Amino acid sequence: MQIAVIGLGYVGLVTAVCMARLGQRVVGLDTDAGKLAALESGEPPFYEPGLSGELNQETGRLTFTGDPAVAIREADVVLICVGTPSAPSGEADLRAVMAAAATIAEQLTRPTVIALRSTVPVGTTEKVEAFLNDRLQIRGEDIAVPVLANPEFLRTGRALDDFLRPSRVVIGRTQRATDQDVGALSTLYRPLNAPILVMDAASAELVKNAANTYLATRISFVNELAALCEATGASVESVIDGIASDPRIGSDYFRPGIGYGGSCLPKDVRSLIAMGEEHGQEMVLAKAVDAVNNAQPGRLAGHMAEALGELSGLRVALLGLAFKPDTDDIRDSPALKLAHELREQGAEVVGCDPQATGRVAEAEPWIQIAPSALEAARGADALVLTTDWPAYVTSDFATLAAVMRRPFIFDARNALDPARAVAAGLRYQSVGGMAPLAALGA
Ligand SMILES: NC(=O)c1ccc[n+]([C@@H]2O[C@H](COP(=O)([O-])OP(=O)(O)OC[C@H]3O[C@@H](n4cnc5c(N)ncnc54)[C@H](O)[C@@H]3O)[C@@H](O)[C@H]2O)c1
Repeated sequence: MQIAVIGLGYVGLVTAVCMARLGQRVVGLDTDAGKLAALESGEPPFYEPGLSGELNQETGRLTFTGDPAVAIREADVVLICVGTPSAPSGEADLRAVMAAAATIAEQLTRPTVIALRSTVPVGTTEKVEAFLNDRLQIRGEDIAVPVLANPEFLRTGRALDDFLRPSRVVIGRTQRATDQDVGALSTLYRPLNAPILVMDAASAELVKNAANTYLATRISFVNELAALCEATGASVESVIDGIASDPRIGSDYFRPGIGYGGSCLPKDVRSLIAMGEEHGQEMVLAKAVDAVNNAQPGRLAGHMAEALGELSGLRVALLGLAFKPDTDDIRDSPALKLAHELREQGAEVVGCDPQATGRVAEAEPWIQIAPSALEAARGADALVLTTDWPAYVTSDFATLAAVMRRPFIFDARNALDPARAVAAGLRYQSVGGMAPLAALGA
């Protein structure tokens, strides 16, 4: 089959590369000339483990273009993978999705299956389908096309593996979609040997938003619990051990810290809240999840001020700027939210990151960028582990402590070994972790 992938970001490029690996002919389309130039030279335009190697596999099945005709005219299936960021109201901003639909409508001359892989609110698939078919009629094309909802669940940092080994594939059909249309899309995923769940489009759209909101709920729950542990003197790590060993609960997405971030969880929670508002159903729990998460960077800055005194004039070094390890994605990064809190309180902020410094220098030029953890630590009053990159978690803390002005470390990901940090002469504090500091006699 020939596939067009529209939007070559974290989801689209991974989709394009993996579909080509599975034997399909794929043409990737994007409007970003810089991205296309990077891809032409064999370079991924962002960091994702394994992607560079995959791009340089010369199969001859994967090409990129900025020309919609080249991508779409010959396609049997078109996969829409453009971004759906939060609008200021919290709703998903669907402008890129509608622009992609308009582009498709200008090019189609024969029946083609369209699938919406972007995360969208309930009703979007139907809306895109109606829009596309109206446009085709206006153009005088005597064809009708189905649009299927086909949300993607991959995680940045593990995107290739997640795509190739999904827990499930979800396909949502509109009334117009035939069994043949669903079959054509399913065929693409059959080699993955994952369950293919076919449902109505509204349900498929909600599955994606609901899954991310549930994961976010676990994180906000454990962060709220950590705050109670701080207030009561209980150890959050012990409490988690006691809860997570229950197989009904488990330990995934259950570590306290500075809060969730990235391009999905925050916006998908906000989108679910907005969907509730639109349909007269207040999403009380999702609102609380969002509120707890938004408060986390401020809570941490508050703890830092309690431990260090006034933050004004202090130099704080952030170890990690990406929203999580193994990505250069800084969208809604908790590290950057903390940086803003610290700046508001008058601190000087220096940061380092193995992959994300270029993006940070562009987006937040006021943050001083250090080339390494050691250079970030030099002269700092405090270190904060903001992203649990393995290189930072396993740092030689004695070396870092030796170049600091004051030996404080705040573990915003509860990922460090407190005993190692304390043995290196650092005063250690985790999230929900006044107790470890006291217990270790630091
Ligand atoms: N990033 C993730 O981890 C992840 C995981 C699952 C689902 N999703 C969802 O997938 C979608 C894409 O996310 P992403 O992180 O890949 O976004 P992204 O911002 O990284 O990439 C979007 C790409 O689409 C391109 N684009 C925008 N409008 C276009 C148009 N009209 N024609 C052609 N190209 C266009 C942009 O130039 C960009 O390269 C979102 O809805 C997101 O919620 C993301």
